[in-house]
Amino acid sequence: MSTTLEPEGTHEGVPAYHFDNRLGGPVLSHQHRWDEMAGAHSGFRSTIARGFWVVTDGAAVQEALQDWRTFSNTSVTALEPNPRFLWIPEMLDPPLHSKWRRLLGKDFSPNAVAAREQEVRKVAADMIDRVKDSGGVDVLDEFARRFPTLIFMRLMGLPEDDLATFLEWVHELLHLSYGEDPDGARQMAAMNAVSDYFEEQIALRRQAPRDDLLSRAMTWRIDGELIDDRDMHAFCVLMFQAGFDTVPISIGWALYHFATHPELREAIVADPSLIATSVEETLRVYSFVVPARKAAKDVEIGGCPVKAGEMVMLPLAVTNRDPERFENPLEVDPHRETTNHIAFGSGPHRCLGSHLARLELNVAVEEWHKRIPDYRLAPGQDLEQHGNMYGIKSLRLEW
Ligand code: HEM
Repeated sequence: MSTTLEPEGTHEGVPAYHFDNRLGGPVLSHQHRWDEMAGAHSGFRSTIARGFWVVTDGAAVQEALQDWRTFSNTSVTALEPNPRFLWIPEMLDPPLHSKWRRLLGKDFSPNAVAAREQEVRKVAADMIDRVKDSGGVDVLDEFARRFPTLIFMRLMGLPEDDLATFLEWVHELLHLSYGEDPDGARQMAAMNAVSDYFEEQIALRRQAPRDDLLSRAMTWRIDGELIDDRDMHAFCVLMFQAGFDTVPISIGWALYHFATHPELREAIVADPSLIATSVEETLRVYSFVVPARKAAKDVEIGGCPVKAGEMVMLPLAVTNRDPERFENPLEVDPHRETTNHIAFGSGPHRCLGSHLARLELNVAVEEWHKRIPDYRLAPGQDLEQHGNMYGIKSLRLEW
């Protein structure tokens, strides 16, 4: 089977493509491209920058994510095998990684998350109330980006007035294509700004602890030692990246799906008990996280002869849309019984925030449909997706 991407020859016997997964494109183009590449190959070489391997065999992606001894998290950026930055816990390998996860587990446990449900629901309901009589909005700008970001800022104990600044940093840090930012200068500038911001927030809490996650983390001990400023900082920067973009993207895809599938929208309005599985299904079908790992030793995976030190990209979409794993894999089926998707990853780095994310997504969809049950895509918009996580750029709905 061939793909619409033209191969550039081979690299060590494996098909090579100028494959830039950060490139923007029309809505669904990323997902379709993964389907094409997975249909044609079990793995390939991307020739972007210094090059990296891409695994497109669904089962192999999951196996690699679980095999942390071979696929290390010391770099998780396909273009940067030797990063000079650290994100905690994402860029740690066990056993240190497990110590952090144990400490963090309490704040993100199902019970801790359930205790926030009322607050989360109120934030969502208030935001939707503000737009429900307008007849239509860009749902990403007016709701999907603001709602989870505000919850996250409260959780971390950050000033809510900084919301707009945060949304701008998220864009610069996570949404730019290789073409828009070839030398990574804009991304680096945003990273520095985020970094300075957290440095200040950490210093403020060292002087006067508060009742928030950041202050609590300062009391934790790893191997008997309190966490120093460098590691606190690495933790904040990771939380920023992991927690800020993902839920907005997921809400965007869910509302896009319900807007373009009126029969499913009517079904969840008539029977809200179908929302939970429908949300899981949108997470699976539109799954957008593309983890990467650094090979700790020579290994062959997806037909790629990976050498120690090389980077391997492990797109979750190829597992979650794999016809060998799911019947009619591209269908969002509220009655599906197989729910073993890996939209939250797999293995030791499986998403720490998955319970919070699920709550936010379910609440967003429930509260939205209580207030705005009948809506459609506003006509005359060219829907595009962007960023290395394929979020929809702008989604205007009308009702
Ligand atoms: C629908 C929304 C979300 C999705 C789809 C998602 C997905 C993921 C995935 C796939 C990973 C694993 C990455 C890898 O293997 O390299 C991950 C890790 C992580 N996520 Fe999420 N995430 C979501 C929301 C959140 C939220 C709301 C938070 C925090 C408030 C969060 C915090 C984290 C953290 C801290 C990690 C790193 C875990 C570790 O390295 O042990 N995520 N997420």
